[in-house]
Amino acid sequence: MMKYFLDSAKIDEIREAYETFGIDGITTNPNHIMNSGKPFFVVIKELADFVKEKGVEGWDKFPISVEIDPHFDNADDMVEMGEKIASMCPNFCIKIPCTEAGITAARILEAKGVRTNLTLVFTASQAIIAAKNNSLFVSPFIGWKENSGEDCKQYIEDIVKIYKNYGFYGKTQIICAAVRTGKQIVDCAAAGADIVTAGLQVYKDSFYHPFTDYGLEKFQNAWDNTVTE
Ligand code: E4P
Repeated sequence: MMKYFLDSAKIDEIREAYETFGIDGITTNPNHIMNSGKPFFVVIKELADFVKEKGVEGWDKFPISVEIDPHFDNADDMVEMGEKIASMCPNFCIKIPCTEAGITAARILEAKGVRTNLTLVFTASQAIIAAKNNSLFVSPFIGWKENSGEDCKQYIEDIVKIYKNYGFYGKTQIICAAVRTGKQIVDCAAAGADIVTAGLQVYKDSFYHPFTDYGLEKFQNAWDNTVTE
């Protein structure tokens, strides 16, 4: 079944999404860390404490993507920071931009046993390179492209098909990122994507239907008006 990750660095949202929707992991980025209003290392300590509290330690149980300093433009700096972050919690997967230096760093980190997530992916050809270099996750963005008028259905279907063609499917897991709507979630699931990541409100909106409330009220009335013995 397709997994749901929460795209957030706010611990209260993470807790709610975990308890309500049973999310399977977390993705963060510098923007989410900034929006948490807390320093980087404070936030990642909260994330590390959260997995201990829930008893889900390990990147295979509850992966948490943490992005390295986006200013780095060479693989050595990326690897150094990636190893430092990964050593802080067994759930941390290192999120690296899909650039030439990023691909190099991801390959080196994976060879050292540090799991990676290649982010800022916007084409199937970028996703092929991510898989060829053994990244655990690849994050093709959906919302940004659809906001600018592109339809992403074919792009996700292509990535899934290519991964299946060459035995990468499931090995490099496809995280459809920046998902904004229930329709996009359904498109990703229908295409066979491994994971979607979205904010809490996207999951709430995609789950809500007014007929559920309407039906509930109707059945409550029936319950209250049922003849009693
Ligand atoms: C994905 O992993 C990113 O964190 C994310 O989806 C970025 O996009 P957004 O913050 O615009 O949703």
